[in-house]
Amino acid sequence: RWSVDNNVDKGESYPQLSQAADLLKNNEVVAFPTETVYGLGGNAENDDAVRKIFGAKGRPSDNPLIIHIAQQRQLNAFVEEIPEKAQALMESFWPGPLTLIFNMKKGVLSDFATAGLSTVAVRMPDHPVALALLEKTRLPIAAPSANRSGRPSPTTADHVWEDLNGRIAGIVNGGPTGVGVESTVLDCTGEVPVILRPGGITKEQLEAVVGEISVDPALTDEEQAPKSPGMKYRHYAPDAPLYLVEGTREDIQRLVDEKKQEGLSVGVLTTAENEGFYQANYVFACGQREFLETVASSLYKALRHFNNTDADIIFSEMFPNEGVGHAIMNRLMKAAGHRVIS
Ligand code: TXA
Ligand code: MG
Repeated sequence: RWSVDNNVDKGESYPQLSQAADLLKNNEVVAFPTETVYGLGGNAENDDAVRKIFGAKGRPSDNPLIIHIAQQRQLNAFVEEIPEKAQALMESFWPGPLTLIFNMKKGVLSDFATAGLSTVAVRMPDHPVALALLEKTRLPIAAPSANRSGRPSPTTADHVWEDLNGRIAGIVNGGPTGVGVESTVLDCTGEVPVILRPGGITKEQLEAVVGEISVDPALTDEEQAPKSPGMKYRHYAPDAPLYLVEGTREDIQRLVDEKKQEGLSVGVLTTAENEGFYQANYVFACGQREFLETVASSLYKALRHFNNTDADIIFSEMFPNEGVGHAIMNRLMKAAGHRVIS
């Protein structure tokens, strides 16, 4: 079992990549960086490899995986047909943080990878290490986020190590990822594409290319069953209970003071603008509110951060539900188990 090496070079010449590619070809599972979060890769055509992914993560078997490819033509092997809108979106956003759902040709990919569905989720990651690794294997690689099921997704190799050390064959360290939240999952099997999971590519960006885009109603209404199986699980949660606060920073400070008086250790999740304002046991800033991309990029690190403290309760600021803020609020709401104080 080999693992994290901090000296990563992104090029073809990097020997870790050949080693990782060989492990994947031998149906072992290996974590690697993408532009969104680290993925835990395995040969999507092989049942054993895919079972190892589910085993290492402790992931429920009814939650299908995203298939990662390096070349569009790889789609022909396992995708039934490529709708016109999907083609246009691939031209615009691949490689990039957009996962497309297609009707699937049966019998090529492991049924475990697709959880027995007749559709398949595919993306081409925009990361030189991921692309070089995929090129080397020449395989469709199934890769969920490389965290233990339910935990925040990993944005550094250390996060992967924390969660999966001893459970997987290796980690390719490519440094911190950029986008920080997972890809947008878009169902392209109907007339109007539907966002099943908000992510790195925004609704506005998609609409600029193909016009009308709808959003799975389950994303805004807790009562509805989500179309993306993974969206029904509690996810991204730190160990201590997290509450989102709809209000001013003074409101948040009042809540902090109350809890401190009860003898609790209190954490606050904020941004650089307000970091100096709060008087709490732990204050962690993720990015700058003014640039929501920076918040997305360090959100999971922030959620993980509180697990290394003795915080009993965490209060978080909220963010505008638009652009990449849509993905940020979706993840925060799940991490908070939908607990909002207004
Ligand atoms: O950015 C990403 O997408 C990262 C990196 C590693 O590529 N991957 C990732 O995978 O987030 P995972 O497994 O954590 O999330 C995959 C999501 C789940 O919500 C799953 O239910 C959904 O995609 N999904 C996969 N196949 C699907 C399908 N055929 N229909 C609907 N949803 C699907
Ligand atoms: Mg995940």
